[in-house]
Amino acid sequence: MLAHPATKYRPFAPIALTDRRWPNRTIDRAPIWMSADLRDGNQALFEPMDAERKLRFFRTLCAIGFKEIEIAFPAASQPEFDFVRQLIEQDMIPEGVTIGVLTQARPELIARTIEAVRGARRAIVHVYNATSPVFRDTVFGMDKAEVIALAVSAVSQVCELVAAAPETEWVLEYSPETFAATELDFALEVCDAVTAAWGATPQRKMILNLPTTVEVATPNVYADQIEWMHCHLARRDSVILSVHPHNDRGTAVASAELALMAGAERVEGCLFGNGERTGNVDLVTLALNLYTQGVASGLDFSDINAVARVAEECTRLPIHPRHPYVGDLVFTAFSGSHQDAIKKGFAAQAKDALWNVPYLPVDPADLGRSYDSVIRVNSQSGKGGVAYLLETHYGIVMPRRLQIEFAGVIQRHTEMHGGEVSAADVWRLFAATYLDAEAPVHLIEHHLFEQGSAQGVRLTISFHGQRQVISGEGNGPIDAAVNALRSIGINIQVRSFEERSVGGDSEARACAFIEVAGAGSGERFGVGLDTNIVTASLKALVSGVNRLGLMDTAEREQQAA
Ligand code: KIV
Ligand code: ZN
Repeated sequence: MLAHPATKYRPFAPIALTDRRWPNRTIDRAPIWMSADLRDGNQALFEPMDAERKLRFFRTLCAIGFKEIEIAFPAASQPEFDFVRQLIEQDMIPEGVTIGVLTQARPELIARTIEAVRGARRAIVHVYNATSPVFRDTVFGMDKAEVIALAVSAVSQVCELVAAAPETEWVLEYSPETFAATELDFALEVCDAVTAAWGATPQRKMILNLPTTVEVATPNVYADQIEWMHCHLARRDSVILSVHPHNDRGTAVASAELALMAGAERVEGCLFGNGERTGNVDLVTLALNLYTQGVASGLDFSDINAVARVAEECTRLPIHPRHPYVGDLVFTAFSGSHQDAIKKGFAAQAKDALWNVPYLPVDPADLGRSYDSVIRVNSQSGKGGVAYLLETHYGIVMPRRLQIEFAGVIQRHTEMHGGEVSAADVWRLFAATYLDAEAPVHLIEHHLFEQGSAQGVRLTISFHGQRQVISGEGNGPIDAAVNALRSIGINIQVRSFEERSVGGDSEARACAFIEVAGAGSGERFGVGLDTNIVTASLKALVSGVNRLGLMDTAEREQQAA
C-alpha cells in the first residue's frame, strides 16, 4: 500500500493576494500568439522533424495567421541551425511574421544563436535559465545572486552582439524557466535585472515569458502569480508579458486563460497541445474557446481537418479522437438522446441567429466539419469513422498510425467511386490492401528452431511464383524472418509491431500489425491474421514487404541469377 501522499508531496503554498482582480475579468481580445511547434514541439518527438516537415509546418503556421513563430534551437544541432539559415537566405519568411530562436543562457550558445539569425528582417532572441530552488540547489549549485548574474550577463552579451548587426530588428525574450515553482519575489528580482540590462523602454519593449515549465498548482495560483508580477514589475510599460503553460496537471488551457485575465498579453504554445512531456498549451483550443465566446482570435481554423492532417503528418503523433474541436468523434453523437436534441437544435437554429444548438458549443461548419448523427464514411470522413466500423463490425483495432494510412486508402476509393462506404466495403478494402498482399512474396509455412541462444526460423515461401526455403536467425521470430528475407535481397527494418486478439474464446485469432521501412521506399503497414500468433506476425511482415513495393533490388538479383 502506498504511503499517504502528505508524507511525500508538498502542497503549493497559496499566493497572498488580497485584492486580486483577475476573477472579475473576461477575455475580450486575442493575445499575441506564439507558436512553439517548431521548437518545444519539435524537441518533443521520437524523431524530430526534418527540414522538409518543418518547412511544411512553418508554411501552415503562417497560413493560419501566426505572426510569431519560434522556429528552432539553432545552437542545439546543425540541422536546426541550417533550417534557420534556409528560411532567411531563401527569403521564406512572410512579411509580418517574426521568427524566434531559443537559447540557454550560455555564452557559446548565445553567440551561435545570433549567428544563425544573421540577416533576418526581425528576430526574437529567446534566452532562458531556470530559477526555482530545486534547479538552483540541485541542478546548478548556484545561489540567487549567481542566478541573477547569469541572466544579466547573457542579456548583456545579446546586447553587444546585436549592436553589431543593426540590419535586423532585434527583440529580446527572457524566460525564467520553472517560473511557476520560483519564489515570486525572486522571479521579480531576476526579471527586473534583465529588463534593466536590456534597457527596455516603451519604445523598445522586451518580452518577459513566465512559464509553467512544470505545472505545480491549480490555475488560479498561476493567475495570482501573473497578476502579482503584472503589478510589481519595475518596467511594466516596457514589457510584453507572456505565458508559456505546460500541461503537467492537465490544466494548461485553464492556466493560460486565467493568466490572460490576470494581465498576460501573449501566449506561447503548440497546435493540439504538442510539446515536451505533457505538452504546451493547445493554441487551437485556446483560440477556438475565444471564438465561441464571440472574440476573433486572429487564427484561421476554418479547415481544421487540413491543419490536423499537417500536424499529424509532420509530428507523426496522432490527435486523440476526443480532442476538443478537432477530434474525429467530437461532432459525432452515438446516444439517441443526444442525436434527438441536436436534431431539434439544428431545426430551430435560424441562419443569422446566435448559435444555440444543444451539445455543440461550436457550429461544426465554422471549422469545415460536419455533424454526424451516426458514423458514416465518405471521402470527407476522418480516420475515426473508418476505425470505428472495422472495430465494431470486425473486431480489428488498428494502431493509430495504421488508421491514418488506411484512411488514405478509403479516401482514394471514395474519391474515385463517390458516395459512402459501408462496413462491408471497409472490410473488403482492408482485406484486399493488407491481408491479401501476397505477391511477390507468399508465405507457405514456417518452422522455428533454436540456434544457441538465438531464435531461428526457416520460411518456405513462393517468391515470384518460385518455391524457396530461406532461413535466418535473430532475437525473435520476426527478427529472424527479417534476416532470412535479407538473404534474398529484401532489406527492411521493422518500425513498430503490435498484436491483438480478435474474436473471443474458441474463435479467437491473433491480428498482427507491423510497420516496415525499406531504404528510400518509405514506410508501410502489413497485417496478418491467424489462429497462431507467430504465423500472424510472419504474415504481417510479408504483407508489409509486399506493400512496400521494394522488390526492385531483389527482383534485379533474381533476374540476374
Ligand atoms: O517550458 C519552459 O520553461 C520553456 C522555456 C524555455 C520557456 O520551454
Ligand atoms: Zn516549454
